[in-house]
Amino acid sequence: MKLLIKNGALVLNDGVKKLDILLQDGKIAKIAEHITADCETVDASGLHVFPGLIDMHVHLREPGFEGKEDIESGSRASVAGGFTQVCCMPNTNPVCDNAVVVSYIKNRQKEVNLCKINPIGAITRGQEGKAMADIGKMKSAGAVALSDDGKSVMDSNVMRLAMEYADGFGLKCLCHCEDENLVDGGVVNEGYNSTLTGLKGSLRAAEDIMIARDIALAESLNIPVHICHVSTYSGLEIIRSAKARGVKVTAESCPHYFVLTDDIITSYDTFTKVNPPVREERDRRAVIEAFRDGTLDCIVTDHAPHSLKDKQVEYNLAAFGMSGIETSFALSYTYLVKTGALTLCELARKMSGNPAEILGLEGGEIAVGKAADLTVADLGAKYVIDSKNFLSKGKNTPFNGYEVYGRIKYTVVDGEIKYKN
Ligand code: DOR
Ligand code: ZN
Ligand code: ZN
Repeated sequence: MKLLIKNGALVLNDGVKKLDILLQDGKIAKIAEHITADCETVDASGLHVFPGLIDMHVHLREPGFEGKEDIESGSRASVAGGFTQVCCMPNTNPVCDNAVVVSYIKNRQKEVNLCKINPIGAITRGQEGKAMADIGKMKSAGAVALSDDGKSVMDSNVMRLAMEYADGFGLKCLCHCEDENLVDGGVVNEGYNSTLTGLKGSLRAAEDIMIARDIALAESLNIPVHICHVSTYSGLEIIRSAKARGVKVTAESCPHYFVLTDDIITSYDTFTKVNPPVREERDRRAVIEAFRDGTLDCIVTDHAPHSLKDKQVEYNLAAFGMSGIETSFALSYTYLVKTGALTLCELARKMSGNPAEILGLEGGEIAVGKAADLTVADLGAKYVIDSKNFLSKGKNTPFNGYEVYGRIKYTVVDGEIKYKN
């Protein structure tokens, strides 16, 4: 199996270069100025070729919540969003806290055969925060990390033991940071807009306390930790100073935290409800600065598809989460690269290289011998986001009507075109 991509601008580690690229037997076989080969050829003139995008934080809902999303619809949405590889969180039903569910997801991935799907196992059984899940067996079955995402592990000693145990198996804990007691039923950021709307707020401190705790554990134990979806300027300061003194901490944030502020909640639109909540302009700017200075390593979506019946209820009762896998690349390109905060090479690191490195996944860069996972985009193409076009079952986006740049043209996984626009 061969595929030749000609005349594209390749986003390499050390710059953007116009080169041809030959894919063979699932690997990048050759990169050179003029390649000729007798095989299927894509003309990428005027297009950019990125290392296949990797989203290390998505919710695919299968097993158990297939009304919101399933592995097939989630995979179709992922490749349409330019993602060659995703990592799915364990808050399914049953919870992915054992080898059987990990294997189930991997088998479904093989049947669907679109993007690569890496299961993330639960830290605790049933995500209940008490007893440790079957960490070793999940690792053997193919789990790439551990998380109780959706919740924090509130008991610090359970978290400590889990981090030590996980580290013994070479797995990292990905921490959803929110002190449940302090959140106390809050549904939006606590501040001016929560007062204005009468919606119950959740303090930045609820997030920051858990970021600080997990970093304190990582530092005391000398074990790496990864902080999920950081939304506060103050949490970013904690991570920045920990990194500066050599703590093994990595961190991610999402497009909704660098594009939106909580001004949007004044609409009472439940598509704006997400956990942690979107915050204020100071936070939004801090997220962008943290991507710029390396405090934030990865752009993830926290793709959280929900059915309309879970969202078309009053704000307090609506499900938390945004369907984000089909808007991430264009929002990131438009709000981080076009604004000058990141270069294209840096964008590729945050959306591919760094997630691959943090979790030890294949792909992540365009180089001979690497997996033939590529994302081809038209950066000049301007369009308006419309969830009617989503392949995800989740139409719950706050970005309808946003004008963005960057259309995905091809998504190539292991040398095969899995999406073409
Ligand atoms: O908004 C969110 N939705 N935050 C989470 O942590 C979980 C996620 C979900 O599963 O819907
Ligand atoms: Zn989370
Ligand atoms: Zn999540």
